[in-house]
Amino acid sequence: MTRRVRTAVLISGRGSNMMALLAAARADDYPADIQLVISNRPEADGLRKADAAGVTAIAIDHKDFDTREAFERELDAALRAHKIDFVACAGFMRVLTEWFVSRWEGRLINIHPSLLPKYKGLHTHKRAIEAGDAEGGASVHWVATEVDGGDIIDHEAVQIEADETPESLANKVLKRELVLYPRALNKVLMGWH
Ligand code: GAR
Repeated sequence: MTRRVRTAVLISGRGSNMMALLAAARADDYPADIQLVISNRPEADGLRKADAAGVTAIAIDHKDFDTREAFERELDAALRAHKIDFVACAGFMRVLTEWFVSRWEGRLINIHPSLLPKYKGLHTHKRAIEAGDAEGGASVHWVATEVDGGDIIDHEAVQIEADETPESLANKVLKRELVLYPRALNKVLMGWH
């Protein structure tokens, strides 16, 4: 196969999607080589998990910077220092500026816990239940300047039951995310230069 793509995963919390990507990337024929995990929250559990899995895991605390762009310049510098070619956001809870998105456009994807284009932003599961939707889910999409607004790569749907709560739906959707994200990253990178 062609060279594996040097990939970074951006996280903010527990990192279950990140761990699913790392597990997939253990296979020699998986097209991503995950070299780096960055969290904007130093206390994120996912950083510990990545470190235990033997991946370079660093914190860049957004609170140390006066502006979004100043934080992103540090993020960008770290990605470049590690010669990263592709970035997967996995529970990364910072809105990215046009500056960062334009620098990484076409090499930057995200997983969002809704069936996009429905429910961009926060509280997606609560909003889906309150709207009386029959299905919830998650989508992997290209990152564009509109938040959660880039082209959709792949999605997974689950049924919303009559007694569904935002928590039960989040748990059900997360299980599918762990299948969806490795599949979507594989799809994007297969045949990618
Ligand atoms: C996931 O459900 C992901 O879709 C969501 O955060 C969770 C992270 O969980 N992402 C967003 O809400 C992005 N706006 P994880 O850290 O255990 O993978």
